[in-house]
Parts: sequence; C-alpha cells; structure tokens
Amino acid sequence: MDTYFNNLNQQLKNHQRAIPCLLIDLDILDENIEKTQLNLSTNTNLRIVVKSLPSVELIDYILQKTNTSKLMVFHQPFLTDLASRLNNQKDILLGKPMPIKTAEYFYNNLPQQNNGFNPFTQIQWLVDTQKRIEEYIDLAKKLHQKIRLNIEINVGLHRGGFSSLKDLEKGLQLIQKNKEFVEFSGFMGYDPHVVKLPKIIRSEKKAFKLANQFYKNCKDLVKNDFPSLWKENLTFNGAGSPTLNLHKTTKSPVNDVSIGSCFVKPTTFDIPPLKEYKPSAFIATPVLKKFKNTTIPGLEKFKFLFKQQSIFIYGGFWKADYYYPKNIKENKLFGNSTNQSLLNISNKTSLEIDDFVFLRPHQSEFVFLQFGEILPIRKGEIQKPWQLLKNK
Ligand SMILES: Cc1ncc(COP(=O)(O)O)c(C=O)c1O
Repeated sequence: MDTYFNNLNQQLKNHQRAIPCLLIDLDILDENIEKTQLNLSTNTNLRIVVKSLPSVELIDYILQKTNTSKLMVFHQPFLTDLASRLNNQKDILLGKPMPIKTAEYFYNNLPQQNNGFNPFTQIQWLVDTQKRIEEYIDLAKKLHQKIRLNIEINVGLHRGGFSSLKDLEKGLQLIQKNKEFVEFSGFMGYDPHVVKLPKIIRSEKKAFKLANQFYKNCKDLVKNDFPSLWKENLTFNGAGSPTLNLHKTTKSPVNDVSIGSCFVKPTTFDIPPLKEYKPSAFIATPVLKKFKNTTIPGLEKFKFLFKQQSIFIYGGFWKADYYYPKNIKENKLFGNSTNQSLLNISNKTSLEIDDFVFLRPHQSEFVFLQFGEILPIRKGEIQKPWQLLKNK
C-alpha cells in the first residue's frame, strides 16, 4: 500500500496542476472486469449502469472490454448526451421511471448530431404504474412514433413497480390494446435487498427465492395470457453489483443483469458478496498547510491538549473516507469545510505541504461528478483525462 500510494503521490506532484482529482486505476479496473465476467452465466446479457460510471471514456472502456452493447441510464441529461454518441447497436434501459415531461423534453430536444442511435427503437422507458403507461401511450401518439416500454416489477425491494399479478395484468392489457403506439420490451426487477436484509428478518436464500418466484410468475403471465406480447428477445433485467453472483444459476429468471459500482468499488460496496473486487477509484487532494499541533478558535489556551499534527487540504467534506496515509481524521471541533478541511494526522506520519492525501468515495454516482474529469492511471502513471457525461 505504501509503495502504491507513494508512487501516485510522486506522479501527482509531477503533474501539471494540483487540485482535487478523481483517479481510476485501469489495471485494478481490468481485474474487476475479469471478475464480473466469471460471475456471468453464458445466456445472460451484461448491462452497464451509467450512473455509477458517469464518464464517456469509462463507459466505452468497459463496453469494449466486456463486449457489451447494453446500458442502464437514470438521468435525462446523460441520456441526451449518450443519444448523441452511441451507435445503432446500443440498447438503453431506463433504471427508473422518468416523469413524462422529462421524456417529452428529451424527444423535443434530441441532439443535432448523432452516431446512428435511434431514440425510439433503442430506448426502453421504464413504467411503474397504470397511469405512467397511459402517459407514455399519449406521448407516443403525440410524437407519431412507437416507443418501447419495460415494466418495473416489485420483487421485494418495495421501491415501487407492479406488486401483484392482478395489477400487472391490467398494465399488460393496456399495452396490448395500444400495440400500434407502444411495444412491450420486458421487465425490470431490482433485488439488492436479497443480500442486505439482516438474517434475523429474512435469510438471503428465502429472499432470493421469493424474488425469483414473483419474477417467474410475471413472465409466465405474459407467456400464457399475452402471447402476442411475448418474444424471445424480451429484456428480463435484474440484479446489481451486490446480487450479480447469485444470478449465475440457470434457475434465475433474468436474462439481463445491470451492474456498475463493482467495477470501481466505492466503500458502500465493501460487502461480503463483493469481497473479491478491489477499489479502483480514489480521490486525491493536495495538502495546503501543515502545523505541529492543532489550534481551535476560542480554545487557544487548550492548544496543549491537541497534540496531533494538523493539515489543511484543498477541498474536503466529500462523500468519502480518508484512506491514505492511515489514521487521518477530520477535525470535528473545527468543523467540516468543502473549501479547506482541517485534518489531524498522527505525529509519526510524514506528510508535507504539496503531498497528496487519498480518499475512497462512498459511492461513485454523485461523487465522480464533483471533479470535472477523471484521471486514469495505467501502470502507476497518469494518463490523458477522461470526460464526464454532460449533466444539464
Ligand atoms: C435498477 C437498478 N439496477 C441495477 C443497479 C445496480 O447498480 P450498481 O451495480 O452500481 O449498484 C441499480 C443501482 O442503483 C439500480 O437502481
């Protein structure tokens, strides 16, 4: 660990400027990519979760390495940005239902330039209620374009979606009646609760079985009662980083798994199912000021009590944990600052002004967007920066 971060520190000190930055180690990323591929069963499609990896080159890199053409998107500005870049082979499934206004805005503001992506045939909009299906049918009529609808089903997470076969039947009837305007493209049933529930409440085995049973019943409903909606290439999406390895079994009802965070492994993903994965994303920020001990405003007289060294870093207060050097702590008495944070370090730690400290983000989705770009690292060396997706 020391050698690894000492080298990164040296690299960053030799870099053209010193500001807080987001690093992704491509060699570690490659190892994580290999691991996901070992956890995929042969007849399951991989779908890359864009919100967890919001950079154009990062997504491209993973799509190429995994030979994948499927993405899951959660944010309209990202959808618009991707619509201008993707080719005619890609498939996008929305990971949450978009307000109808937003879907309409997307279609009314399609990018001028594109790379062959068809926003009507290559997007599956997610619908979670009867009302939402009606709204999307109306939108299709307004646009004079057929659009694709994927139905969110509640497999036990209780984050919305159709929860009973009776309601689902009504939703499917509505789609069937309006087949000239909308096409049924499959189901999305997200199941991270399966591994997150305390055992005392429900075992992983039981939660997984219940989730799969409901998923299977939903599929059977389409197959048996709505044969005109059934096709071999429907998308039956499920899973996420925490549950990917569970779906390796042929008993899984899903044929499409969506993952993102396990490639970079922020701290929220330090969970037993992902123990083989390594963190590949780090925040690095320079030390601006250093003092032998700590002086708190108003408590100057008690300076002798605060014996640890103190440093001020460039920025701070990110959704992240200090990681290297070890035993760095934010000073709670001084208060948090996103501008210059006061940190305490042990007197044994040698850290000088202009050295870098390293953090691990709690999550990738929002945190990555705070750094303007990503600095990829290959074999310990900083590479050309990668762009983030447009966020407006
Ligand atoms: C619908 C859905 N699928 C999949 C995922 C998995 O993403 P990740 O692998 O980044 O946890 C998420 C995460 O929020 C999700 O909401």
